[in-house]
Amino acid sequence: MEQYVINGGKSLAGEVTISGAKNAALGILAGAIMCDEFVTIENLPDVSDINVLLEAIAAIGAVVERVDKHTVRINGGTIHTEMVDYDYIQKIRASYYLLGALLAKRKNATVAMPGGCDIGLRPIDQHLKGFRALGANVTTENGFIHAKATHLRASHIFLDLVSVGATINIMLAATMAEGQTIIENVAKEPHIVDVANFLNSLGANIKGAGTDVIRIRGVQKLHGNTYSIIPDQIEAGTFMCLAAATKGDITLKSVIPKHLEAITAKLVEIGAEVNEYDDSVRVCCNRRLAASTVKTRVYPGFPTDMQPQMAAVLMFGKGTSYIHENIFENRFKYVGELRKMGAGIKVEGNSVAVIEGIEKGNAAIMDAPDLRAGAALTIAALATEGQSVIRDIEYIERGYEDFDQKLRGLGASIEKTVVPSGKKKSKFA
Ligand code: UD1
Repeated sequence: MEQYVINGGKSLAGEVTISGAKNAALGILAGAIMCDEFVTIENLPDVSDINVLLEAIAAIGAVVERVDKHTVRINGGTIHTEMVDYDYIQKIRASYYLLGALLAKRKNATVAMPGGCDIGLRPIDQHLKGFRALGANVTTENGFIHAKATHLRASHIFLDLVSVGATINIMLAATMAEGQTIIENVAKEPHIVDVANFLNSLGANIKGAGTDVIRIRGVQKLHGNTYSIIPDQIEAGTFMCLAAATKGDITLKSVIPKHLEAITAKLVEIGAEVNEYDDSVRVCCNRRLAASTVKTRVYPGFPTDMQPQMAAVLMFGKGTSYIHENIFENRFKYVGELRKMGAGIKVEGNSVAVIEGIEKGNAAIMDAPDLRAGAALTIAALATEGQSVIRDIEYIERGYEDFDQKLRGLGASIEKTVVPSGKKKSKFA
């Protein structure tokens, strides 16, 4: 067990290079197994969620060759089973993309019900509805989902709600279904477009990714290729919030500024300076920021994956801020941790946090409740004088590559240390 020990209160400044998008990589790696030739994937983020999915892919028999830290070669031609082990799904929710990919490839898939960050109920009924529409017989039994089809055929699917996961999973399955599938009311996040571009680069025929309607003409097989993953919108947004909270001056390199517009707009609204260049963004701040209202929405709205980090900025804002969480029911578990730092933040119902901004907080020992919440606690600790400790950082490392190292590169005093034995409180205490 490791923890971050942070001596905060410094303005962070300098350049940071943003890694490849974790959530795009998860869909792309699953999609790669559908191909019986070598597929090379570049700009892969080196984070634990990705490494677990690679293990899951190797465990079903695919060839997985690590070329370097950010490049992997995958060949799905040697896959020998349709059954994905429970251990992987428990560790990483997005292993459920193997359901769509295996269904496409082998017309048969068995995957355990997904786990992942505990941020809400997170049903997968829309994924299953899509598989059924494509002709699969889908059953759930003893915690496993079985999807089987003699033949996948195209369909016209209207999602009841906008879901990133369902859009990607159904897109994967429909890539090899016979005929033209139309999926309406789909998610438009940048990583949906990236997964579609990736599949098209292997010979798939997917149109409309990034709009409300995706049209997929099924193909019988995919061919090998090399593909580079887009930069991570949420990692970039996290460093933007860090610049704002620490009154710093950070240039993010290797980003797509368009993907960051909702975050940029909010930071500018509260008084930070954001300059956009072709593939970089600079965020500067030299004063106490204003309060605001943040409402999470599907893309291009403000991402739910950025609301904890924005709360860590607004915690120090001047006045009362409101955060409305409209996507997940359980995304305010960081509130109790920020209160340990003296934050004037409380939750009303499940979906609104009210923040009375404070000028300065106090250092504290905090536990990361999930990935993005852990990033938010790190931002708050870096913006606060004194020595704070963040425990349960394995959540943070699921999605942020070399987080402590990148922060040190910006002048932060942050060390990763082993939690002294006997000091770790029980999670269930
Ligand atoms: C993905 C992201 C996650 C992000 C979220 C919203 C990945 C690996 N994860 O999660 O980081 O926070 O999008 O941007 O890309 N829902 C249903 N039925 C379904 C599917 C979803 O009711 O079949 C609900 C969910 O409970 C949630 C909402 O729809 O309330 C959106 O979920 P979804 O977009 O599917 O999120 P994930 O794909 O799980």
